[in-house]
Amino acid sequence: MSAQLINGKEIALALREELAAELAFKKYRPYLAVVLVGNDEASLIYDRNKQKAALAAGMDCDLHHLPEETTEDDLLDLIGRLNGDDNIHGVMVQLPLPKHINGRRIIEAICPEKDVDGFTPQNAGRLLLKDERAIVSATPAGILHLLKTVHQNLSGLHAVIIGRSNIVGKPLASLLLNQDCTVTVIHSKTVNPKEITRQADILIAACGCPKMVKKDWVKEGATIIDVGINRIDGKLCGDVDFDDVCDKAAFITPVPGGVGPMTIAMLLRNTYQAYLALKK
Ligand code: GUN
Repeated sequence: MSAQLINGKEIALALREELAAELAFKKYRPYLAVVLVGNDEASLIYDRNKQKAALAAGMDCDLHHLPEETTEDDLLDLIGRLNGDDNIHGVMVQLPLPKHINGRRIIEAICPEKDVDGFTPQNAGRLLLKDERAIVSATPAGILHLLKTVHQNLSGLHAVIIGRSNIVGKPLASLLLNQDCTVTVIHSKTVNPKEITRQADILIAACGCPKMVKKDWVKEGATIIDVGINRIDGKLCGDVDFDDVCDKAAFITPVPGGVGPMTIAMLLRNTYQAYLALKK
């Protein structure tokens, strides 16, 4: 058996076009503010892509690119102004932040109704409690959307998530639990991880270890979602050894072109959701 690709690039494009078509008839435009501190090259490219995608979808989007030496107080001041500006519906601060800034304090300062990353304690808690007002983090939301393209019903499936980050692993566990999956989260301290991943109907790798997941980690016919973005000798690869597992899985996301494009599409959807809720 050769796994069927889940084409995140195409699915994300369709979502962005759908959003653009819907926004084409609106009088007002959702407005996203992206804040980047410092000169991390990958973050800058990523944030410029977000801005381009937002504009193409018919939204407004400012990229606030602040110098590395920006103080925590200056950043809090900017967030306060964005929170208080009624024309702005979505606020996101690119992570990671420079070491001298307390990331938790910054995230907690974002107004939950504008928190389109879904990182504030209010949105994380609402997701956990299955409260429909939750703004769900873009990457987990994108993964769920991809899974729904190949599984009509997720109920009862065993989903194993490798990685327990606040950005992917933890919110994804809540999201899949809310879909009635049986969810197991494994991490760097898990004893004998293979024993667990081999039971997964859905295996999600979000651990940041290049090509860690091999054939003997995978159940025959599993769906594999690869969240990793790593480089080996300059070449992009995921946390899954794609060539090794390809014959064993039923569905798999490629890297690049799998989960990555979905994150931007879902961030735009979240901005539209925030806009609609704020306009009520
Ligand atoms: N850094 C890596 N992924 C993300 C994300 O989804 N949002 C933000 N703000 N920063 C990130």
